Amino acid sequence: MSQFTFPILHLLADGQFHSGEALAQHFKVTRATIWNAVQHAQNLGVEVFSVRGRGYKLPQAIELLDEKLVLAAIGEQRAWFKLEVLDEITSTNTYLMQQKNAAHATCVVAHVQTHGKGRRGRTWVSQLGASLTFSLLWRFQCGAAALSGLSLAVGVALIRALNSLGVNDAQLKWPNDVLVTENNTPKKLAGILIELQGDLEGPSAAVIGVGFNLNLPDKVLSSIDQPAIDLTTVSTSPINQSALLGVLLKHLADVLSSFEQHGFVGLRDEWLSYHAYENKPVRMLLPNGTEVVGLVKSVADDGILLVETALGLQRFSAGEISLRNLSL
Ligand code: BTN
Repeated sequence: MSQFTFPILHLLADGQFHSGEALAQHFKVTRATIWNAVQHAQNLGVEVFSVRGRGYKLPQAIELLDEKLVLAAIGEQRAWFKLEVLDEITSTNTYLMQQKNAAHATCVVAHVQTHGKGRRGRTWVSQLGASLTFSLLWRFQCGAAALSGLSLAVGVALIRALNSLGVNDAQLKWPNDVLVTENNTPKKLAGILIELQGDLEGPSAAVIGVGFNLNLPDKVLSSIDQPAIDLTTVSTSPINQSALLGVLLKHLADVLSSFEQHGFVGLRDEWLSYHAYENKPVRMLLPNGTEVVGLVKSVADDGILLVETALGLQRFSAGEISLRNLSL
């Protein structure tokens, strides 16, 4: 870890060459310190070209997170949020889960996560500029038992945000993946990982982690164990990641307020209108390793998935279940 890695990356973000000497002068350190800091960036998976006589350069210009732009994009509800922009962290979810006294609506966003977590023990693969990774802490008066359906509600907020940015073909896969279909293949654009704190009876808190693919280099794309797609591919106009975060937080504030008042039932019809697998054949992978095949019927008022199987209509709760389209 070098304290100069991210300050240097902020300068290299313009995509231009910066000589080691100029960087050393700028930070009043030796060229060896600059070299070490660049090595650390490379250890984080950031590609930095080093050309003798010219200096250091990123493969392309990148936009780093800008707190002011995030707050401006949230709009009127900006005062609700406490925003923390971090350069490097293991996982924004882990970080927030450890802050037992974090304020309601604290949002932690990181340029780089070294141990990003996905659902079902998976890792969330990313690197600088490739995806937007943030977690939002939301406190509820009700207990954790009443939060079933929360992850589906969050999916609704993500689709609303995408629609408002002109991306209209995104869909939801139960319980909470955001998909876009390309060449007849549903591909993952964003994922949600919710971790709960507090009692079953209440009060409780949810750490809502969102990973949003922005611009996946081929190397990252090929290391992801399922079809994935990024915002650069699905959007017709460039979307700045700070603006995206602000718009996501605005819609999360709306949806979470509605969820607090009415539960998932108030958002269910909208969720179903985005449902990628309605009436589609699926294969459910259960925690005990068995598989169930069936036809997706709907989701219930509490977010439970209803699947018509050989044994009749069965109910599945999110937990550790993985759902696959049978036609994949
Ligand atoms: C999934 O689709 O499996 C869930 C992915 C969730 C990834 C996000 S990135 C920000 C937050 N911090 C984490 O470690 N994970 C979530």
